[in-house]
Amino acid sequence: MIYLLDTADLNAIQHCNAFYPMSGVTTNPSIISKENTDFWHLVERIRNVIGENKMLHVQTTAQKADDIVAEARLLQKRLGGSFYIKVPIGEEGLKATMLLKKLGIPVTMTAIFTPAQALMAARAGAAFVAPYVNRLDNIIGDGVQVVSDIVKELSLHRLDTQVLAASFKNMEQVHKCALAGCHCVTVSEDIMRGLISHPMTNAAIETFERDWKAVYGNKTILDF
Ligand code: G3P
Repeated sequence: MIYLLDTADLNAIQHCNAFYPMSGVTTNPSIISKENTDFWHLVERIRNVIGENKMLHVQTTAQKADDIVAEARLLQKRLGGSFYIKVPIGEEGLKATMLLKKLGIPVTMTAIFTPAQALMAARAGAAFVAPYVNRLDNIIGDGVQVVSDIVKELSLHRLDTQVLAASFKNMEQVHKCALAGCHCVTVSEDIMRGLISHPMTNAAIETFERDWKAVYGNKTILDF
């Protein structure tokens, strides 16, 4: 399973890009709006921070298939690199996905809440499907089970579409998606940090430092 960062906050992106093995950034209109700044300036800065090789997923704001395709072409041209257009599931979205597949622009079909939606998106040619785990949990919809069912059905039907699970509010949801064989997750900076923190780890590191200093003071290995 690979990790992406679900934010347009440049400080968070810079931090996680430097310290975590993250494979890219995902955004949506709500995430972009939170930054309340010029759209192109923001997404181009995100591309500059993460580089050409990491995935950048940007969501369309258009409703009609032809307009979605036009936005995708423009975004891909201006942002370059590893680019994915996020398209919400729906008739126009599916039509756009089939057109974009022919144009070679990869689609992440988003706002997925059921395995039936995911299978249809995969058949239309989506590279990724993005089920919303916590939003499902909020309505007692068992987000992890939906992710697990999508992973199984894509494998059963030998489809290459990957599952990019989104909408996480805690580390357990991420862990259970990993156990379900989910291919990718996109998480907030808080969840990214939470995934590596443990009080026992802090205690172990403090003990290492104390024991070393008791004998060697402030010397490091480089000082010997
Ligand atoms: O892109 C979808 C994801 O960002 C939704 O997350 O936290 O708004 O449910 P959330």
